[in-house]
Amino acid sequence: MTTKTVERATKAITVFIADPLSEDGIYPLIHESELNLNIIVDTGLSQEQLIAKIADIDVLLVRSQTTVTREIIEAAKNLKLIGRAGVGVDNIDLTAATEHGIIVVNAPDGNTNSAAEHTIAMITALARYIPQAFNTLKNGVWDRKSYVGVELKNKVLGVIGMGRIGVEVAYRAKGQRMKVIAYDPFLTEERAKELGVTKGTVDEVCIAADFITVHTPLLPETRNLINKERFAIMKDGVRIINCARGGIINEDDLYDAILEKKVAGAALDVFITEPATDHKLLTLSEVIATPHLGASTVEAQESVAVDVSNDIIKFFKTGTVTNP
Ligand code: NAD
Ligand code: MLT
Repeated sequence: MTTKTVERATKAITVFIADPLSEDGIYPLIHESELNLNIIVDTGLSQEQLIAKIADIDVLLVRSQTTVTREIIEAAKNLKLIGRAGVGVDNIDLTAATEHGIIVVNAPDGNTNSAAEHTIAMITALARYIPQAFNTLKNGVWDRKSYVGVELKNKVLGVIGMGRIGVEVAYRAKGQRMKVIAYDPFLTEERAKELGVTKGTVDEVCIAADFITVHTPLLPETRNLINKERFAIMKDGVRIINCARGGIINEDDLYDAILEKKVAGAALDVFITEPATDHKLLTLSEVIATPHLGASTVEAQESVAVDVSNDIIKFFKTGTVTNP
């Protein structure tokens, strides 16, 4: 036991940072004095380049750009822990990690506020055509007729997924005096009452809402949750927001629903395939979009990197983690 502790303290632990992370956020790792940490920052690598460099690493630290495939996991013979500076672990092959006894930790709370604020910004921008009007003005056209928006006050916001971000979005929407109807398999009547929202099924949310925002993880049950059949039961002129994961809303069905004028507009931060620079949805004037910026604030990036850094340190000191 004593020998093991000495080994832990002296043997270098290699932490490989494969995506750009907040420098302030990795402060705990850089200034850790008890563990002998060897920190390598090497970002923007292809799968092949990463595979070639990670045979001896102990920890792989990523954001969302790097997809941690089975091939990567198998090439990293010493890998003990994968840290994800953010919420979604859908860029990590969890089955392969589990098979190899590798712990995966994420930072579930650090970017909640930023993602909720981004969602509200998208709802407002969508309602008032802010990106479209700005583009027109930048092109020298003072057009006040094409961009008559809608108020948020008294509109119904449908929130699907009432976890950390969904709840924060609901709070903020109520501040805009919107009415909120929400679905989450774990949302009880009591909790809905406490939050001041109406609890409904997915279909009830789709039928009642003027704006629908999704905040679930991408799982087999949530893939294509908003599809052709669900667009059909929505109000004409509904507006759709996705700041969660590409694929929760069926992109082809959304495209058709916009062409059919069923959907008046969509605000998208995420896509099935990213980067999505050449996407048919981006050709539609009703669509506004950001390149997966929900968590891209100084505060969120620092916070998620600090959380995951502290978890790495905790793991090598105690053998336990906070967010497995
Ligand atoms: P969370 O785990 O706190 O909440 C997710 C909620 O979805 C849970 O309450 C869960 O019960 C619910 N859920 C699961 N299956 C469901 C289903 N079939 N129908 C309805 N609800 C279901 O996660 P979170 O932190 O709130 O994150 C929500 C999503 O936002 C995730 O996909 C996450 O990856 C994404 N996200 C995106 C950004 C961004 O940059 N755009 C930033 C942070 C998080
Ligand atoms: C997340 O899941 O945390 C978000 O997608 C933000 C990100 O890390 O890019």
